Amino acid sequence: MVATDPLRVLVTGAAGQIGYALVPMIARGAMLGPDQPVILHMLDIEPAAESLKGVKMELVDAAFPLLKGVVATTDVVEACKDVNIAVMVGGFPRKEGMERKDVMSKNVSIYKAQASALEKHAAADCKVLVVANPANTNALILKEFAPSIPDKNITCLTRLDHNRALGQISERLNVQVSDVKNVIIWGNHSSTQYPDVNHATVTANGAQKPVRELIGDDNWLNNEFIATVQQRGAAIIKARKLSSALSAASSACDHIHDWVVGTPKDTWVSMGVYSDGSYGVQAGLIYSFPVTCEKGDWTIVQNLKIDEFSRDKMDKTAQELVEEKALAKSCLD
Ligand code: NAD
Ligand code: LMR
Repeated sequence: MVATDPLRVLVTGAAGQIGYALVPMIARGAMLGPDQPVILHMLDIEPAAESLKGVKMELVDAAFPLLKGVVATTDVVEACKDVNIAVMVGGFPRKEGMERKDVMSKNVSIYKAQASALEKHAAADCKVLVVANPANTNALILKEFAPSIPDKNITCLTRLDHNRALGQISERLNVQVSDVKNVIIWGNHSSTQYPDVNHATVTANGAQKPVRELIGDDNWLNNEFIATVQQRGAAIIKARKLSSALSAASSACDHIHDWVVGTPKDTWVSMGVYSDGSYGVQAGLIYSFPVTCEKGDWTIVQNLKIDEFSRDKMDKTAQELVEEKALAKSCLD
């Protein structure tokens, strides 16, 4: 057996609720696989320093075989040093009754500062996943203030929305969620996102059938389904009085796992990535597309047929991102 060097994984906001759910998943191999040792770098801010220490104590106590070290710090430079993967969760979460735009100014300045630290101190090929909201725009700010990190290495999380869409279809059809695939989340991780099932399939008895045909209720698919997925984050906040955490952590693991290890044959996932103008989406936005991954690289799935209904929804969520980008820039002036 060849010994594998540990990979260094940064989690910012590690003392927060997503962080608390995420770090044990990473230490158990859910993100990078059961044979990949990891060293966790956990960053939080001074008021959370004691709590961060407690998380480190728990990681030691859990005796994870894959966990080869833990750096717990409030120093952004120490946190970013040589990291191979950076999961940016730290920030100010949306509370009940708040719109995502309300948290914009608080978060873009954090992402500007952390961009410079990553650029200077992370491994040259570091892969970055932004989770903190507004996720697409925070990722864009991070990209703009870390110009030497390749565009392809900066992404944001829409896999949670993708997984939510799979979950809704599986519940409606009473099939295993693992038999549903190729839903798409287009656009922003917000209530304007467009969950699209036009290319999604369910595998039954070895054959793949279109989700639209199996459900046979376009009215449900074009209205209730879309609204449920778009509003799921808000529904969880209403129910828990806290934003989603275990599902966000699990989906962050799925995002990095598939990016690094690859997507299964004939299967795509949704990732917020830097737009190259595919599907008429303005270049230079971080927009969620269907992607396949191989050898550590993602590629946007091309040539999917887009009907008028989809076009309109894809354009609306793009327009919101254009507005967020302008607002973010004005917050930084
Ligand atoms: P939380 O408040 O429980 O934790 C956030 C942590 O970030 C806190 O420990 C806080 O001290 C820390 N923090 C604040 N500023 C920081 C900084 N400058 N550097 C490092 N750490 C900092 O919040 P949470 O519930 O864990 O959510 C985290 C973020 O993820 C929020 O922005 C939330 O809206 C977002 N979120 C995104 C998705 C998604 O699918 N993209 C899903 C759920 C939540
Ligand atoms: C979610 O989707 O659960 C989070 O992004 C919470 C939110 O702010 O909507």
